[in-house]
Parts: sequence; C-alpha cells; structure tokens
Amino acid sequence: MTTHRISSALDDQARAILQGNDRGGYTIPTDGLYPYQWNWDSAFAAWGFSTFDLDRAWTELETLFSAQWDDGMVPHIIFHKQDPGYFPGPEVWGTNKTPATSGISQPPVAATMARLILQADPEAGRERIAALWPKIVAWHRWWRDYRCGTGVVAITHPWESGRDNCPDWDIGMAGVDGSNVGEYTRRDTGHVDPSMRPGKAEYDRYIAMVQFGRACGWDQREIVANGPFLMEDPGITFILTRANDDLAAMGRDLGHDVSEIEGWAADLRAAAPRLWNPETRGFDARDLKTGRFADRIASAAFLAYLAGVETPELAARMDGIWDAVRYGFPSADPAADSFEPRRYWRGPSWPVVNALLAIGLKDRGLDAAAERLRRETAELIEAHGFFEYFDPIDGTPCGGDAFTWTAAIWLTWAGADDPAKGAA
Ligand code: GLC
Repeated sequence: MTTHRISSALDDQARAILQGNDRGGYTIPTDGLYPYQWNWDSAFAAWGFSTFDLDRAWTELETLFSAQWDDGMVPHIIFHKQDPGYFPGPEVWGTNKTPATSGISQPPVAATMARLILQADPEAGRERIAALWPKIVAWHRWWRDYRCGTGVVAITHPWESGRDNCPDWDIGMAGVDGSNVGEYTRRDTGHVDPSMRPGKAEYDRYIAMVQFGRACGWDQREIVANGPFLMEDPGITFILTRANDDLAAMGRDLGHDVSEIEGWAADLRAAAPRLWNPETRGFDARDLKTGRFADRIASAAFLAYLAGVETPELAARMDGIWDAVRYGFPSADPAADSFEPRRYWRGPSWPVVNALLAIGLKDRGLDAAAERLRRETAELIEAHGFFEYFDPIDGTPCGGDAFTWTAAIWLTWAGADDPAKGAA
C-alpha cells in the first residue's frame, strides 16, 4: 500500500528542483556547475521522481542506459548537448561515442534505485524493468570483468568513485604525474567558491589520467594494467555487492536464472575482508600500484552495512567518527590531518551518502542510527535548502545550490520518514 504524506513547502521546492533540472529524459545535477547527465546522480534523480512521476523515473534510467558502451560500461557523464561551461568536456575525453560520454564509470547504484522504484508500483514497472534488467546485468558484468581483478572493485580514476578528492585517493594520486598536462581552463571554480573545490595540483593529475585513457583509445585493460592510477574502493565494492542482490531479486521476479549474479555478490562478500585495515580498524582503500593501504577511513567504509558486510568493530568505529561532528556523517575522518570540513569529499556531509548509509543501517536493524542520520540531514536542508554538501560541524551549505540528488533524497527519505508529519 502506498501512503501519501502531507506535502510541505520543502516538498514542493524539491519537486520544482527536479523538474527545473530536467533537460528532457535526463536530469542535470545542478545548473551551471554540472550541465550534463551524471550516472549515479541520475539514479538518485529517478528515485526522487518516483515519489510523484513514476513514468519519468523509469525514463531517467532508460536515458542513462541508452549511453551504455558495447562492453557494458555505463559512463559517468553523458554529454547529450554541448555546454561550454564545463571542463573537461567531450573533446577532452575523446571517447568517440554517440552520444558523447566520459571514459570511466561511477558507483553502480542504479539496480538498487530501480528496485526501490519498482516497489512503488510493481505492476506499472514490470515492462520497464524487464527491458532494463539485461542492461544492468551487462554493466555489473563489466565491473566484474574489468575492475574486480583482486576480488574487490578497483577504480582507475578518483572520479570513478564518485568521491572525487576524498583523502582515500591521496596515496594513489601522489604517484600520478600531472606536470605535463598543458594549459587548460577550469570551469568549476567560476561557478562556486574555489576553497570548496579540489586544488590545482590535484586537477592536473585528474587531467593526466584522462589523457592516458584517451591516448590508449579507452582500452580498459590497458588502463588497468598500465594507467597512472589504480585503487581498490570500499565504496563501490559495497555498493556493487548490494546492487547485485537487488538485481538478482528483480531478476528472480522476472523469471530469470540469477545464479550468476548471486555468485558475483557472494564473491564480493568473500573478498571484502581484504579491505579491512587492522591499523585503522576500518574498511580502507588500497593503492594497487604499491599494495599499500591508504590508512584513511571515509564515509564509504560504512556502506558495509548496505552490503551486509559487518565486523564486530564497525558500529563503535562509526559512532566515534560521527560523534565528532554535528550534522550527518562526515565524508572523511574528522580526526585526520587531511580533514577539511568544507572541501568537497575531504570532510563535508553529503545528503546523498547519508541516505545510502541509512538504508544500510535500517536493513541491519539499526533503526535509531538511521533515524538520527535522517534527522540531522533533514535539519541541514530545512535550515539552508538543497545544497550539494554541508559543513558537518556548523552546517554551512557548500557547493552547488538547487541540487538534484539532494532534492531527490529529501522526497524519498530525509523529509519523507518524518514521524512528525504522519501520513494522509
Ligand atoms: C562531483 C561528485 C560526483 C557527482 C558529480 C555530479 O563530481 O564528486 O559524485 O556525481 O559531482 O554531481
């Protein structure tokens, strides 16, 4: 049964943001800063649309998968229409695809979001998921074939993780030579405060990785074998594990044999302990160029709950990090020297990650923690609006405004579960 809660002014604003960022079949993350379709943003946008326009929700995912590569990869950006306000644009990536795309992927949350959308109305979604399902399978197979060489997921560019400048990647970034990338003009720092964005040295290295991919014609095996950056990512590992479960569940309902997908999920769970760093007592990223752990602990480490991968220490570790801030879960460890509360993934609280964490907490029966996370996230949005991310200590809104995925998680989770609102 679907319950309809009483709509609030913030609900109206959130819907208006999704509709305002709709470019016809796909939604941009925010006007100006991100003028194209981003992979995991779109999956969250679809979840947000599902609260008021199911047809549009499915269309969002269909448009995303319309840019899938022949090998199964679903790119992290789809450049539907040229926009000079963004760098690096399609001419820098040079992937020669139609539509033009980037050459890396992004966290595979689509299956998990599709299942949530399907639950809203299984009958109405049946045909849509039947057509999408094999495409999602092909994408998950791509992760397995191209990125899971050690058993867990490795990324070839920090942007692939969706957590661009997280301290997790510092150790791998240190090995990338950004000194020969040539002249270029960034566009992000013209849209938002540069102190809330990655620095120039980091950007040079990001571009060097793009140039390597382009030079080898985006040959994914070559990039993994000889590219400048390769790190195991706890975030995508846990997201993919969970997404495989969701994909298998939907496949079962459609009458498919899902044993292969169940095997992928089981293999990822079996390999997950490899990411446990006894020094930091947490799941950690590992640099595959050197074999060394990053010795960091980030929000993504606690997506272990989402994947049903736990350790006896996880809850205590999570509380320790969370209690050091006031608003939502910090993207990076507040106790580390690298912590910067307003710089992107080096400390801020991201509503969208809070939502994913809460799904995991709730599924493990940690209802009080899930509700605390929802409440703290809601407070940020209620006080400041639908920003990209927030300072987790004083709540200062950061990055882009009128942000699609912040609006989406308000409608589906942060503003939706509020017991005070009740249902009508
Ligand atoms: C930034 C974020 C990434 C997101 C994109 C669009 O690159 O780090 O996770 O997908 O912006 O919002």
